[in-house]
Amino acid sequence: MNPTALTIAIAYGAVVIVAVVAILVVWHSTHSFESPRKDVTDTARLAHGEKGWFIFAVIALGVLLLATLAFIPYGDNAAATGQQQVAVQGQQFAWVVTPNEITAGVPVRFEVTSTDVSHGFAVYNDDNVLLLQIQAGPKSTSHIVYTFKVPGRYQVVCLEFCGVKHHTMIGSFQVAE
Ligand code: CUA
Repeated sequence: MNPTALTIAIAYGAVVIVAVVAILVVWHSTHSFESPRKDVTDTARLAHGEKGWFIFAVIALGVLLLATLAFIPYGDNAAATGQQQVAVQGQQFAWVVTPNEITAGVPVRFEVTSTDVSHGFAVYNDDNVLLLQIQAGPKSTSHIVYTFKVPGRYQVVCLEFCGVKHHTMIGSFQVAE
């Protein structure tokens, strides 16, 4: 027997021993050798308790839902009054943002579309933090509302692969006081 074969045989033997010991431990732990257990669990009482917890959980979730419904921002976003309208058009491989200057502190409603294929409209701040993103699909307009608090230059990046120069599809806009 050459050294490699011997090493394999020893390793295989060791694995078999470990496996047999593990099987014996599990088998022993799941088979009681003592007299039958006397502590009979009252499963009916446990089932009753579980039902109570289920009802409690459903009621708690219902109350939480109703109590927080008013804080969902979508209602605010639906009302277009008092918002800045900004049209965003994606095309291979550029972004057209009209107007290109936005006022800080006032909600912006981005109307996003594409002239060719699907793009991913995403806005990043100075620190490269993603602030919002929505798909720019052809023959459709999606909208997203966002309020910029910090004036400055924001970068628009495409987050959906749209062709060979997808990575160059970067635009920007200015947010003024
Ligand atoms: Cu447009 Cu990727």
